[in-house]
Amino acid sequence: MRSYLVAGNWKMNGSRAANAALLRGLRDGFTGSPGVEMLVCPPFPYLADVARELEGSAIRLGAQNVSQHESGAFTGECSAAMLSDVGCSYVIVGHSERRALMGETSEDVAAKFVAALSGGLRPILCVGESLDEREAGHTEAVIDEQLDAVLQAAGVSTFAEAVVAYEPVWAIGTGKSASPQQAEDVHAHIRARVAGHDRQVADKLQILYGGSVKGDNAAGLFSKGDIDGGLIGGASLKADDFLAIATAAMAQD
Ligand code: PGA
Repeated sequence: MRSYLVAGNWKMNGSRAANAALLRGLRDGFTGSPGVEMLVCPPFPYLADVARELEGSAIRLGAQNVSQHESGAFTGECSAAMLSDVGCSYVIVGHSERRALMGETSEDVAAKFVAALSGGLRPILCVGESLDEREAGHTEAVIDEQLDAVLQAAGVSTFAEAVVAYEPVWAIGTGKSASPQQAEDVHAHIRARVAGHDRQVADKLQILYGGSVKGDNAAGLFSKGDIDGGLIGGASLKADDFLAIATAAMAQD
């Protein structure tokens, strides 16, 4: 049986009231599935509240970013141990918005990946090309650079405790998802790249697709052999939409 992860990246959205309503809908609608794990990644201030609301549910908690440092004089930062302490089991690293808007390099992302694992979190490593890079035929080279930085810093064995998310920048928040075949081609490339280091790790690696996943395109994406779930932005903010995506994953079992 395949194992899917359906992860909601709330980005900088939400409020106590909106989160409570959303979580109520998700808890009522998703009572667990042997082949599908559901995850929500709210902004930092809400993590502890959301952890409490998720107690006893089948839904897991993750953060959207983590410091590469363990503790100390890093004003505004948050360590992996702190995130674990408040109930997170996952953290997103290297989202394209952080690479583009906050200037995170692949080396920074690799350091965060390592820090996440040391702090007991499962990193979700995001990789993806821009439209210019795709049109110039550089998609695989961009993915390789982003992936190799982490493989070198962390070693392939750590990928047994990690997830990769392929998120083409041109598909994020645009309503223009990659086609199932476009996504599958890159997912197969990612798996082959990791298999070049360790085939067993690569075979078990969950590779999520992200970029305008919705209830009506999820099934086509998830039917592909190398697409093991989704990293969902906009559609994770509405319970019905997010549940429809989880249902599409459950239907693949
Ligand atoms: P989207 O965002 O689903 O709104 O395109 C995905 C993401 O950025 O993780």
